[in-house]
Amino acid sequence: MTTATTGRTALRGVVGTAHTRVEGRDKVTGAARYAGEIPFADLAHGWLVLSTVTRGRIRSLDTEAVLALPGVLAVLHHGNAPRVDTEYVGLLGIPPDPTAAVFQHDRVPHAGWPVALVVAETPEQAREAAEALVVTYDEEPHRTVLTTGHPDAHPAGGVMPGETAKGDLAAGLAASAVVVDEEYTTPEEHHSMMEPHAATALWDGGRLEVVDSNQGTTWIQSELAQMFSLDASAVRVRSEHIGGGFGSKGLRAHQVAAVMAATELQRPVRVVMTRRQMFSLAGYRSPTLQHVRLGADADGRLRALEHRSLNQTSTVYEFVEPSAGVARVMYDAEAHHTANEVVPLDVPSPTFMRAPGEAPGSFAVESALDELAERCGIDPVELRLRNEPEVGPVSGLPFSSRNLDVCFREGARRFGWAERDPRPGRRREGRWLLGTGTAAASFHAGAGPSTAVVTAQADGGFTVRIAAADIGTGARTALTLVAADALEVAPDRVRVRIGDSDFGPAMIAGGSMGTRSWAWAIREAARELRERLALGTPIPPEGITVRSDTTEALGALAQKERHSFGAQFAEVAVDPATGEVRVRRMLGIFAAGRIVNPLTARNQLVGGMVWGISMALHEEAVRDRTSGALYAPDLAGYHVATNADVGDIQADWVDDPDPDDPVGIKGVGEIGVVGAAAAVANAVWHATGVRHRSLPIRPDRIL
Ligand code: MOS
Repeated sequence: MTTATTGRTALRGVVGTAHTRVEGRDKVTGAARYAGEIPFADLAHGWLVLSTVTRGRIRSLDTEAVLALPGVLAVLHHGNAPRVDTEYVGLLGIPPDPTAAVFQHDRVPHAGWPVALVVAETPEQAREAAEALVVTYDEEPHRTVLTTGHPDAHPAGGVMPGETAKGDLAAGLAASAVVVDEEYTTPEEHHSMMEPHAATALWDGGRLEVVDSNQGTTWIQSELAQMFSLDASAVRVRSEHIGGGFGSKGLRAHQVAAVMAATELQRPVRVVMTRRQMFSLAGYRSPTLQHVRLGADADGRLRALEHRSLNQTSTVYEFVEPSAGVARVMYDAEAHHTANEVVPLDVPSPTFMRAPGEAPGSFAVESALDELAERCGIDPVELRLRNEPEVGPVSGLPFSSRNLDVCFREGARRFGWAERDPRPGRRREGRWLLGTGTAAASFHAGAGPSTAVVTAQADGGFTVRIAAADIGTGARTALTLVAADALEVAPDRVRVRIGDSDFGPAMIAGGSMGTRSWAWAIREAARELRERLALGTPIPPEGITVRSDTTEALGALAQKERHSFGAQFAEVAVDPATGEVRVRRMLGIFAAGRIVNPLTARNQLVGGMVWGISMALHEEAVRDRTSGALYAPDLAGYHVATNADVGDIQADWVDDPDPDDPVGIKGVGEIGVVGAAAAVANAVWHATGVRHRSLPIRPDRIL
């Protein structure tokens, strides 16, 4: 028996120090197993069959022919699948997307709708049979094109207010010396993360177990329990390693289909989405049509601001890409109107995709600000500094901290902004036109209730258990540092176990709130445990365990506007003959709370900025108007920025601890992408004198 004080050195202060990923070695050696590769005895394999029509009804499925094929065990479809419940409000306060509730009716609301699951002994047999399954449809005409003035467009419902309005917009614009009145558009974009969605379901002694790749095990546990009318304690969801989430890894067709098949066959069933299936089943970012009107005095101070955004959703579920929310935080004006509108079309349901709302919304607002700066003859950095609000423009609440001005000053200094000639099209270097641009970034900083369990072991080690999800962010490592810091021990004495719903309720990896929410809970339990150990209590063989629950503590966050902020800078080179755009360098300076692990935090910020380059120049999913389906729904047809597209890219931060968070964290998961596309587009204008209000800035569009 040892006591915890043995060998303990004063080690407070590991928060903020660089630490490589604690599971890094397992990941690069293949020891870390992902959901689709964990072995199970007697495993059967399901293959989803998706509709080949865009709207209509299933007339027939020729299951008999397929059941006769080698290894085929079952074909699930609307005629034989178990019924599930979708009439509930889920953990996030929203109802489930019925797209996940597979095989409940014969209607086809969009291209790539799941119509059947073929289950076989091997994945190859399942795939062969799925491709052989003949499904006939009664087709109906479809509408898949987002346009303004759509008769079914309506103000967005849901968690965020669809519209906000203060002051007289017409009067504000009329009294303005300078007005910008422009339309901006962004295309359909897909977050096709490295690891496709995969789940294995099995019944184990009366308990449903699902081994999955998701952004929150207790979230998926609760959704599956409600959908299948089970007690939550009868469902266990595990998700240890995740190859990317980005908002897409919630409840989806694969988990539900796997549970149905495992229930029918009474053996473990795995369902893995293919890359192409992800393009219709995994959610995506809606295209947006945005209208921004800015009115300002000659000195650039805003008098009037209007931001309206229209996005699409499916006919079965309303998901809103809340792009018009950006101006509610960023800029104030006496007349200030914002509106998110949505129109249902015969398309797959969009979903959360890294910085939902802020990413496309900041492209419109930050491009419009750049146009305003041009027309006022004011430097774009100076224009933003002049328009820094005192309090939340819509909420009227104080900011917990903002520091956007500090980011801009520091960024401008490091980028060499002062040397910039404001006139466009002036810098040349051989065949290249050079330009620089800037934009502001913001992202909501919140926290969700979580529970953590911390155990001091008799061998001197510590184990943390929390149903956190490390979707590639480095959360597991950050939480190790937070726990070590609170326990005042070296990080290598702490083992953080995550990704298991049996660890108790916890926030999801979402909204840039995961690490902060989990860190809060871990810190509470760890501090209490440390206090107990400081009394010299001997540790019994089973260890000493402390559990925390932050539900009440989070009240401290109310009554303030909480956001991370940032200043983005980009330099581009444009070849006017070929239309080629090269992002030579990018710098982002962020005020994003206390940084727990500079290594992985920088990864997050740089990763987001790369998404911004990708959004500015490459990403665009194109829907065929005749078929209603996507052209080339894979990573050959859908272009994303690769190494060769990214020049010198740097992210750094200013000191900005959240005053009400025990660790000072805000969150870094999403802000890197915000404003990044606008900074690139503004740099392209500066290089060429041509404004790009529609993304992506393809070579054929450049001049
Ligand atoms: Mo993020 S889009 O909240 O996973």
